[in-house]
Amino acid sequence: MEQLIDAAITLAGRAPSAHNTQPWAVEQEGEKVRLRVDPARTLPLADPTHQDTVLGLGAWVEAFAIALQRELCLQVSGRGAALVVEIQVGPEPYRDFTPREVAARQVDRGRLVKDEVSLHHALENFGLLATTAVAQMMGERTWRKLHNRTALDIARTPEILAETVSWLRLDPTDPAYHRDGLNADCLRISPGLARLGRRLLNSPGLRRTAGVWQPLLARLYYSRSLRPPSRVVLCAGDTTDPAALIECGRDLLRCWLLLARAGLRVSVNSEIKDNPDTAAKLPPGAFAVFSVGVSTTRVPWSSRLQDPGRG
Ligand SMILES: Cc1cc2nc3c(=O)[nH]c(=O)nc-3n(C[C@H](O)[C@H](O)[C@H](O)COP(=O)(O)O)c2cc1C
Repeated sequence: MEQLIDAAITLAGRAPSAHNTQPWAVEQEGEKVRLRVDPARTLPLADPTHQDTVLGLGAWVEAFAIALQRELCLQVSGRGAALVVEIQVGPEPYRDFTPREVAARQVDRGRLVKDEVSLHHALENFGLLATTAVAQMMGERTWRKLHNRTALDIARTPEILAETVSWLRLDPTDPAYHRDGLNADCLRISPGLARLGRRLLNSPGLRRTAGVWQPLLARLYYSRSLRPPSRVVLCAGDTTDPAALIECGRDLLRCWLLLARAGLRVSVNSEIKDNPDTAAKLPPGAFAVFSVGVSTTRVPWSSRLQDPGRG
């Protein structure tokens, strides 16, 4: 069993996390696993309540259960960066998803094409499978308005911009390029644009004027999806209790895996729910905002700490 747990920990590392920070620290003691937050892998400015961090840990827990194909018994204590999840492997088999599905899931920031029929079918199944979350659709105009507003706010907040930049991997020779963060391949940025991005972001003068050029770049970046795909918001009754938030993270991964099973991928815009002004325009308890559609190009693999060198 201990060897199976070891292998499951490796596969669970494919769980999604904000900025691909992989904020989990995992300790294995025989057949028990303790999951903590790695404080060096959090986003204290963009995610001051640690909601995204805890959602990432919840996604890790779900991926771990799938990898082991066993139901888990969880004990959650602490909150935010001090959160601890004690995990015990239960006797019941896990049936909803397969390890292969965890390994194959990907976020896609390229152009997505609408497929409402598959989306509605997947969301119907999500309604049956979710333990706490409810999926709602968001209109395109609302999304655009909120998205443009957050792009401007991030650019005008140099601290948040700097934190985001610290997780961007725009230089392929950076040793972290294949370890964590958001690299140019996954962001779908060409080598030329990545070079320009590095120059803009490394120049203190240009960085100070980010309020002017960053929103323009953001618009350009998203203009690829002029006919944008469907927008989904996941909401839950309780997103403040740490144990409930872990369940939200598990539901988030279940939702994305059901969408993947239907041939769909997601592109995430957490800043819309992390920004207090735009969050106020979302349904109550919104904890995830993402677009859904069919990929139109091959999706590059995002990096993970356990697989350095994977390109
Ligand atoms: C809670 C959470 C928030 C996320 N927020 C964003 C986001 O705002 N923008 C984005 O492009 N991706 C976001 N993502 C997706 C991650 O960046 C992505 O999971 C990570 O880069 C790993 O890539 P993969 O999911 O393709 O394996 C988020 C993921 C999670 C779990």
